[in-house]
This record gives sequence, C-alpha cells and structure tokens, in this order.
Amino acid sequence: MDYLTVTAVFRQLDDETLAGILDPLPILGCQVEDTGGWVVVTVYCDEKRRASLQTIGDALAAAGGERIETGSLGDRDWLASYRASSQPFPVGRLWWLDPHPEAPSPPPPGRIRLAVEPRSAFGSGSHESTQLLLLALEEMDLVGMRVLDVGTGSGILSLAAAARGAAWIAGFDIDPVSVFVAARTVREQERPVDVSLFVGPLEAVGSTFDVVLCNMLWSQMEPLIPGLARHLSPSGTLLLSGLLAADHVAATGACRGAGLEATASRSLGEWLGLEAHHG
Ligand SMILES: C[S@@+](CC[C@H](N)C(=O)[O-])C[C@H]1O[C@@H](n2cnc3c(N)ncnc32)[C@H](O)[C@@H]1O
Repeated sequence: MDYLTVTAVFRQLDDETLAGILDPLPILGCQVEDTGGWVVVTVYCDEKRRASLQTIGDALAAAGGERIETGSLGDRDWLASYRASSQPFPVGRLWWLDPHPEAPSPPPPGRIRLAVEPRSAFGSGSHESTQLLLLALEEMDLVGMRVLDVGTGSGILSLAAAARGAAWIAGFDIDPVSVFVAARTVREQERPVDVSLFVGPLEAVGSTFDVVLCNMLWSQMEPLIPGLARHLSPSGTLLLSGLLAADHVAATGACRGAGLEATASRSLGEWLGLEAHHG
C-alpha cells in the first residue's frame, strides 16, 4: 500500500494551531520537524484519499504553510532497521531476549533464550509491562500446568510459560495480526513449542486454567476481570500487568468484586503488576 504525503513549511507554528488545522482533515497522522527557523510539517493520508490532497494543501497554505508539496511513500517494513540494530538483552535472572530468530545468539549460562523478532505485535520483551510478567513467570514452576495467555500479542508470554514447563498453553488476541505474528514467533523457536493460538474474545475460551496471564491497559482489562476469574481454576494464579499506580485501587476492587484477592504487587518504571487468587 502507498501512503500519500503533503509537506509544508511554516515560519512558526504552535501545537494548538497545528491541531486546529489537521483535526477536520482526512489524514492518518503527521510528522513535525523543527529545523531551526522553519517548522516542516508532513501529513500522511491513505492512497484512497488522493482526491483530498488539494484540500489538505489548501488548509496548510491558509494557515501560513509555504512550499506545499505532495508525494507518496511506498509501503515499507518500518521495523526493518530497528530489527537490524536490535541486540539480545537479559530480563530478570532467567530470560535472554533474542530479536534475531534466524541468527541465534547463545544465552549466557543459566539463561533461557526466547527468540522474539520485533514485529507489528506488542511484546518484544523490552517493555516493562511485559517484563513484569516475565519476572513473575521466572519464579514459578509451571510443570504440568494449564496456562491462558490473554492478549498474547507477539506470543512472548506463551513462550516463557512453555519454558517453565507448562503442559498446555492457550493464547489468544482480538487482533488478528498479533495472532499471525505470535504463530510465526512460536514456529521460530529453536525447540518446538506447543501453543494453541486463536483470534477472538475471552468468551470463546471454554476451560479453566491454573495460570492466567493478562497484560493490557486497565481500560481494556477492566471489563475482562469477571471473565478472567471464571477461567481461573479454584487454586489458580491470575497475573496482571499493564496497570499504572493510579489503577491499583480500581484493579484490586474489581478483582474483589469478581471473588479474587490481589495478594502481591510488583512495579517496574511506571508499570504495576498484580497477582490474584480466588478469595
Ligand atoms: C500490551 S499488549 C500485551 C502483549 C503481550 N502479552 C505482552 O505481555 O507483551 C496487549 C494485547 O492485548 C490485546 N487485547 C486488547 N484487548 C483485548 C481483549 N479484550 N481480548 C483479547 N486481547 C485483547 C491487544 O490486541 C494486544 O495485543
């Protein structure tokens, strides 16, 4: 797919004025560069919006934009250069996150390699909310256990659960692209990993699990809490991440409302993780 661009330079431009210009326009986003003296604004829109290029250019010109130019940007793998420059890195005491499945770097002694190439699904291992759950998993013996990975993203937590000995792992996401990426990531591990992946909502899950993992923003997680409790076996462990300190009270309250007691918390940067069990 091609993206169309409209570029304009401004002698001066503040954020509020820019937002006012762009808000009514059918655009995908914009990039602003202050080149010292000039502010260069590049607006991106869908190739299907070719007919709107004139309107966008006119709006930028009316706001003081000069040297209006239109162009196009071919579809690119935007993550390619990031991937190429990524280096393997440790997380906690156990994990070794290797962004290069095709060129494995041996983990330092005592560490387990998870090969996760940064792609368009969340979960390369570099985000603290993911790391909170990796840290929790490294302390758990999952041998023989059933694990549910809610919002699997790249599939990284399923890989970690498998490495801890889980007997059966189901991972799902409402985002089809994430599940496609997760399936590819699972296939790329040095040793075969067995994860059942599907695209869909929590309501499509039929069984209960010994461990339920869920890393997402509180606004996304809150409506799922009763369902997460229903899918947790009586002696199971629910591990949540992606919360902020400000969500702590609401999250423990919602857990209580679903019959769960939050028994431990852990934080990394601004992110908070909770562990909960049936009360
Ligand atoms: C922050 S990412 C976590 C990815 C990975 N599990 C990790 O820990 O790095 C959250 C994921 O949850 C998915 N998601 C959001 N709402 C969901 C829902 N209601 N049911 C299932 N997945 C959901 C998103 O598509 C996204 O892939």
